[in-house]
Amino acid sequence: MAICFLHLLLLPILLLSNLSPSTAQEKLSSFNISYSPWSPTLNRILVSTNSIFAAGFRPLPTNQNLYIFAIWYQNSSDKTIAWSLNGNSTVTSSSSLVISSSGTLELNDSTGKNLWQPTTVDNSPGAGLVLHGNGSLMFGNWDSFKYPTDTILPNQIINGTTLVSKNGKFMFVNSSKLIFNSSNYWDEHTFNILTSDGNITKTDDATPWLSADVGSSRLHRLTLDDDGNLRVYSLDPVLGSWKVVWQVIQELCTIHGTCGENYICMTSNGSNSTTYCVCPPGFRVRNTTAGEVCERAIPLRPRDSKFLRLDFVDFGDDNETQIQVSNFSSCKSGCVSNPSCLAFVFKFDGTETCIQLHRLIYGYWSPATENSMFLRVSDSDTSETNFTSMATKVNTICSTLISLPSPPKESNTTTRNIAILSTLFAFEFLIGFLSFWAFIKKYIKYRDMAQVLGLELLTTGGPKRYSHAELKTATNNFSNVIGHGGFGVVYKGELPDHRIVAVKCLKDVAGGEAEFWAEVTIIARMHHLNLVRMWGFCAEKGQRMLVYEYIPNGSLAHFLFHANRDEHEPGTGTGTGTGTETDTETGSVPVQPRPILDWNVRYRIAQGVARAIAYLHEECLEWVLHCDIKPENILLEDDFCPKVSDFGLSKLTKKEDKVSMSRIRGTRGYLAPEWVKMEPITAKADVYSFGMVLLEIVSGMRNYEFRRSSVDSEEWYFPRWAFEKVYKEMNVDDLLDGRIKHCYDSSVHFEIVDRMVKTAMWCLQDKAEMRPSMGKVTKMLEGTVEITEPAKPTIFYIGDDE
Ligand SMILES: *[C@@H]1O[C@H](CO)[C@@H](O)[C@H](O)[C@H]1NC(C)=O
Ligand SMILES: *[C@@H]1O[C@H](CO)[C@@H](O)[C@H](O)[C@H]1NC(C)=O
Ligand SMILES: *[C@@H]1O[C@H](CO)[C@@H](O)[C@H](O)[C@H]1NC(C)=O
Ligand SMILES: *[C@@H]1O[C@H](CO)[C@@H](O)[C@H](O)[C@H]1NC(C)=O
Ligand SMILES: *[C@@H]1O[C@H](CO)[C@@H](O)[C@H](O)[C@H]1NC(C)=O
Ligand SMILES: *[C@@H]1O[C@H](CO)[C@@H](O)[C@H](O)[C@H]1NC(C)=O
Ligand SMILES: *[C@@H]1O[C@H](CO)[C@@H](O)[C@H](O)[C@H]1NC(C)=O
Repeated sequence: MAICFLHLLLLPILLLSNLSPSTAQEKLSSFNISYSPWSPTLNRILVSTNSIFAAGFRPLPTNQNLYIFAIWYQNSSDKTIAWSLNGNSTVTSSSSLVISSSGTLELNDSTGKNLWQPTTVDNSPGAGLVLHGNGSLMFGNWDSFKYPTDTILPNQIINGTTLVSKNGKFMFVNSSKLIFNSSNYWDEHTFNILTSDGNITKTDDATPWLSADVGSSRLHRLTLDDDGNLRVYSLDPVLGSWKVVWQVIQELCTIHGTCGENYICMTSNGSNSTTYCVCPPGFRVRNTTAGEVCERAIPLRPRDSKFLRLDFVDFGDDNETQIQVSNFSSCKSGCVSNPSCLAFVFKFDGTETCIQLHRLIYGYWSPATENSMFLRVSDSDTSETNFTSMATKVNTICSTLISLPSPPKESNTTTRNIAILSTLFAFEFLIGFLSFWAFIKKYIKYRDMAQVLGLELLTTGGPKRYSHAELKTATNNFSNVIGHGGFGVVYKGELPDHRIVAVKCLKDVAGGEAEFWAEVTIIARMHHLNLVRMWGFCAEKGQRMLVYEYIPNGSLAHFLFHANRDEHEPGTGTGTGTGTETDTETGSVPVQPRPILDWNVRYRIAQGVARAIAYLHEECLEWVLHCDIKPENILLEDDFCPKVSDFGLSKLTKKEDKVSMSRIRGTRGYLAPEWVKMEPITAKADVYSFGMVLLEIVSGMRNYEFRRSSVDSEEWYFPRWAFEKVYKEMNVDDLLDGRIKHCYDSSVHFEIVDRMVKTAMWCLQDKAEMRPSMGKVTKMLEGTVEITEPAKPTIFYIGDDE
């Protein structure tokens, strides 16, 4: 009985395995007249001499009786198709590929029609259809490289061809334009070729785009995907799987047609990897036979004058009209009096830009739009706008224009605590009302900046190139030094358009000018609210300089540790930040007391920094480790919004310098144990450094100066001591910054401080693999995941080995 049962189980397996080997696959190196005709049911393929590619009839996964004639990768696990004859058109099993006696190659469909176009003849003796090692299929002068489908292979000429995505929705034409339904959503450069090591060269610009694994010998392909993005993939030879190593569009929502009419495309939690479509307020989703559509809840009547405000929303329709107006209300009334106006945009940047929209297509949400959209709805519509997502996001990370009370004098009464708390509360309450005006004021103030951002960075997508002379003038002959860092000296300057900048002169930069330019372009492409923006660079006369936005408030270090200035700061690693002022180091300039950061601000800073690092680790296509996270590299804006600086710079330094330099540079106290133990450095090294910074944010002390116990200094290790306090003694109080301990109200602050400390404990785990990813850290800080008890950090810091 049991054997019988086993037999039944094995039967289908045996049948399956019997099927394929029974008719051994015939592998041709050339399909010539001796093999003609080739019917789809023959188990035959044409193989390239290097065995990488194969060509032949492939049944459709959905219908085994229909075939395409295709070229595919033999070594990829899903036998990825790189080309197919006539796009997706299929033939039945009664068709055949023949070489006629006259030497014509024909794909003879069942009606006798030749589908192999254009017609090709090769009369030479031994003529055959051959698949070359580079993936091109040739017969006579017919070459599959001239008729690509959705994929371009290395060294295949793109120019003069059109790629169409498999679903037929998107096109890439003239090697320069991405198109959906005749509307163009990308046209910044003209592609030349993809090189076999993963560069994409351009015809209009000497700097190639580099894929993340540039230089590797893996197989690369450039494909127009079904979501409308052009991506370079590289093949993992072991797993046989493809990995995205480059993509042309970073903000997927700017791809037209991602969402249907009236919808607004959003990216999940600010991440750029997945999109979803939201039907805006005043509209509703209705099921139709053709699927879901988003339509008005109440039809619009000509005189309706109600508008819902949608922050950071834009509709990508290019058929919009820009109107000259003098103020917001005339922009609004212009829309009301035009019955075809469905929405208007007014830019609060002082340009008085007023745009009317007549179609609500290609809508998306992105902080980069710097727009508010006013959506026209019926006067009887009662829906509330919930598109303030950016505003709430900004508020959780950086509340606008928070100003802090000055450091309290040494007196400590409950009444004053209550007074401070209620002032702060009243202040935060007021902010709600003031933020609109702050928004306008800020944008007028930064009008020039916004223009440059819009015109230079967002449109052309690259940093501006400055001449040495320009930067010399801007920095007043490099006279105003504002910092000395591991990467070089930082000067303050002012550009001709009055933007204040921090100019960083790099030392020990690896590689030539083109490589530098390419790297800088990548760094400049990283946009995040909590990363310092790079505006440009200079590569001239052997000099390498980077031009950053200037962050006025200086670094977090100055706010956290300034009261301890008399305790001498060791090392030279301080002040690397682009906006860091050295006044505290020189000591000659009297320093005005900086406000002491309150718990809410500290928590926001922690969250902002975590998000920025998570973005570097997880959301950039270029995988970026920071390698030097410390309070000096966290700059604070006027409103205490944190901005991480010096990211990506480790990529610019000479390879041989990297290890030794990092060991010295990655400032004492923040280095993960891997650095000292010479183990491989991964993203988890940044997580460790961030954990130290978190503890310092809470304690207001350098981790190596926080010695408040009888523990022998040789064995002192802050994380271990903190762990004992938090998990064994259950006494977080001992860790808190003494200067604001009196503001600590356990019912209000316990939750956030507890979260910061416990997250830090996970980040500071000895073993890299025990530490959470930066994305997880962000969630732990936010409180969206539970924080379990970590293992006790045990390593005591192996002194300074400089
Ligand atoms: C593909 O696989 C074949 C045999 O399975 C092997 O000889 C060849 O080296 C592989 N090619 C690549 C590029 O991995
Ligand atoms: C094409 O197929 C038709 C019908 O199957 C047949 O009559 C004709 O001879 C074929 N043509 C060639 C060139 O083989
Ligand atoms: C076709 O190719 C095979 C080997 O690839 C060869 O042996 C044969 O002679 C060729 N036939 C003709 C007619 O050239
Ligand atoms: C394409 O555009 C036309 C008019 O420009 C429009 O009528 C049609 O619905 C659009 N198709 C899609 C799929 O968006
Ligand atoms: C986004 O964040 C929310 C909570 O803030 C979470 O519930 C949701 O799963 C997140 N979505 C993604 C795609 O990460
Ligand atoms: C573009 O807008 C104008 C009015 O501004 C309108 O007449 C025209 O039909 C629009 N074109 C499309 C394709 O919607
Ligand atoms: C706004 O509310 C609608 C309906 O409740 C919801 O579907 C949509 O996701 C919300 N949008 C945002 C940005 O939260």
